[in-house]
Amino acid sequence: MSSLPSISTPRLGVFDSGVGGLTVLRELRQQLPKVAMHYVADTAHAPYGLRDADYIIERSLKVGGHLIDQGARVLVVACNTATAHAIAALRQRWPDVPIVGTEPGIKPAVAQSSVGRIGVMATPATIASARFAGLVQKHAGSVQVFSRACPGLVELIERGDLQSEELRALLAHLCQPLIEAEVDTVLMGCTHYPLIQTQLQETLGSQVKLLNIESAVAQQAARQWQALGLPSAPEAAPLLQTTGDAESLSRFVQQALHWPLSASGLLI
Ligand code: DGL
Repeated sequence: MSSLPSISTPRLGVFDSGVGGLTVLRELRQQLPKVAMHYVADTAHAPYGLRDADYIIERSLKVGGHLIDQGARVLVVACNTATAHAIAALRQRWPDVPIVGTEPGIKPAVAQSSVGRIGVMATPATIASARFAGLVQKHAGSVQVFSRACPGLVELIERGDLQSEELRALLAHLCQPLIEAEVDTVLMGCTHYPLIQTQLQETLGSQVKLLNIESAVAQQAARQWQALGLPSAPEAAPLLQTTGDAESLSRFVQQALHWPLSASGLLI
């Protein structure tokens, strides 16, 4: 358990292993335009989805600690993989900071399915986690859940070429079992995947409903922020930091999200 440092500007802290959490940040900026935000992409240590639980916990505590030291008073874990393995450790370390996680929305997906078969695409570490198994057990009921671990997908998205043939070929391979299972609903269980939603929809076919959780996560974070009664800031651009290459993150936010922002490097 750690006490909170004193700070001048309370911020909403957001992190992911890379660019995926920007899909959550995009929703947060829409819902809380006057809140100062701080985003960390832990790109030097991505992908989390191929790491073991100890590593994911260690990195999440390191990045979460940095955000809190810099003023985060609500923390958003904009990563399903880090939520699955590290949210309990984060909440134990900072019991006074509301910490909002990102988890595959099994419950809404189950409610959407008319045929009783849904697919979930997520990182290998998320699919293998006890938390994911618990969600399925709690919410699937009689609906069949086809879980698809997607190694390699985050790495291709991180490279930034979202139109490549390599990405299309990998998507075709990953989606094949879901197409064969004739699921009618697919859940994007990784915050990177909404960045390739169009390509994913094309691969799965227009009859498949594609669901994500980012807007619900942002709503939950907004509720937490408002409950604390923290002051709002003048409309401010979020602070973007990466443990990887700042140029690449800047290029990504400018090209994929059309935000005229630059990221800076971070050594933690
Ligand atoms: N964006 C992260 C998630 O939602 C995963 C990325 C990774 O494997 O590093 O799970």
